[in-house]
Amino acid sequence: MIGIISAMQDELAALLTIVTDQKKLVLGQRTYYQGKLNKQEVVLVFSNWGKVAAAITTTQLIAHFNPKEIIFTGVAGAIDPTLAIGDLVLANSLVQHDMDASPLFKKHEIPLIGKSSFTPPKNKLLQDCIAAFQASYFTHISKEEAKEFNIKLPTVVMGLIASGDQFISDVQTQNQLKNQLPNLSCVEMEGAAVAQVCEAYETPYQVIRIISDKANDNAPIDFPKFTQKIASKYAKGILEKYCN
Ligand code: ADE
Repeated sequence: MIGIISAMQDELAALLTIVTDQKKLVLGQRTYYQGKLNKQEVVLVFSNWGKVAAAITTTQLIAHFNPKEIIFTGVAGAIDPTLAIGDLVLANSLVQHDMDASPLFKKHEIPLIGKSSFTPPKNKLLQDCIAAFQASYFTHISKEEAKEFNIKLPTVVMGLIASGDQFISDVQTQNQLKNQLPNLSCVEMEGAAVAQVCEAYETPYQVIRIISDKANDNAPIDFPKFTQKIASKYAKGILEKYCN
């Protein structure tokens, strides 16, 4: 079984429509949708926003369903200025940007576990499925939808993702993050919490993020529009292939 988590229903809605033999289980105020995606057993769940919500959801998912892997998919705000709305980031490293127990521990270090970042295992099949999605982009996203968000052809990068309990929508905060984490690709609110839980339970995990906004003062407008209209088509396009 593969566990698939998003923070919001909008991010998984299209994928949920093609999960067959669905059974629902409510645990700790989350609904886990168990079923089949092609031949693969899957369980889908919306975590809600933030690191605690993501940790609750992931812990219950592992304890109840014992998945062989967890994939988190959702949107993020770009910090790297070369990233545009619609681009894809597959995490090769994750950090909790609001963790700061200095001077007792280094900034970003999670106290007592001796880690400042989390590294997901390499997953060539997922990388291939993301590349295939990119190659067949306009079979998933219409030309009109792409035009509305000024998407040419999305780029795909592997990079550092930072998570924190903060929606970033100003250039000053963005610059602070850039100074602290010079290689940072994008920011979101759950990925590094999922990573910490998965590492604690030795469950392989991946975090896929689609750029919905540029973490600037237009982010509160770009983010909901992109999330409602586009985000779940990415999750469907990539994971429908991955679960073949
Ligand atoms: N998720 C999507 N956009 C975001 C932003 N700007 N800040 C934090 N999380 C996000």
